[in-house]
Amino acid sequence: MSVDAPAPEAARRRPGPAPLLEVEGMTRHFTVSGTRIDVLRDCTFRVGRGEVVAIVGQSGSGKSTLLNVLGLLDRPSGGTYTFDGVDTTRLGEGPRSRLRGEGIGFVFQQFHLLERRTALANVGVPMVLGGVPLLRRRTRARELLEAVGLGHRLHSQPHQLSGGEQQRVALARALSREPALILADEPTGALDAASSTVIMDQLLEQARIRDAAVVVVTHDPKVAARADRVVELVEGRTR
Ligand SMILES: Nc1ncnc2c1ncn2[C@@H]1O[C@H](COP(=O)(O)OP(=O)(O)O)[C@@H](O)[C@H]1O
Ligand SMILES: [Mg+2]
Repeated sequence: MSVDAPAPEAARRRPGPAPLLEVEGMTRHFTVSGTRIDVLRDCTFRVGRGEVVAIVGQSGSGKSTLLNVLGLLDRPSGGTYTFDGVDTTRLGEGPRSRLRGEGIGFVFQQFHLLERRTALANVGVPMVLGGVPLLRRRTRARELLEAVGLGHRLHSQPHQLSGGEQQRVALARALSREPALILADEPTGALDAASSTVIMDQLLEQARIRDAAVVVVTHDPKVAARADRVVELVEGRTR
């Protein structure tokens, strides 16, 4: 072969592994009483496997709206959102909900645990939806609660736990199906400074152990400082 021969197709592709998330020119508007509100105007960014990205911006800047789209809970009005190589804007509801269940774990500011259910049962919820058999579910839920330091709280209900402990149960629940992506919307927003540090320690440690990507919305500079990268939302545009 001559040295001037064109490179084979594989060698001409972009180097490095493909990103887990690719958001290109994403928009989202809402229409309220006939008036259009452009919340997301142009969001473009990528997140690699195992990467931790913080999304910051003023209250009302569209952070939760963006996270809902990333979590396949909502559809963008325009642009593309590629998750693990799949263009999600072309998927129907069935495949979207499968991808969400298998690929994405959620942590919310207000924990959203089921009251009157034990920590073990709460961590098991996504596995019930995923058809994991009971014994396997129990074992895995116990292991996850032990991993976040709640091995002594397996049978406690949410009202018997502190806010920080409830959020650790929610983190264990988010990890239960080994998602490639964890989305956290102000996960420390309802916690005091000490509990916030513990939650961030565990979120980042568990994500690293499992090579999961993390996208965390926060207004806490201490949380943002711990991310690999910060994406700022200003007037509906990422920068
Ligand atoms: N379903 C909806 N219908 C109408 N407006 C919405 C809807 N969801 C969000 N918004 C508006 O979009 C803007 C951004 O909201 P949000 O994404 O919750 O901001 P953030 O999380 O950054 O505080 C707000 O003005 C909010 O009122
Ligand atoms: Mg929000």
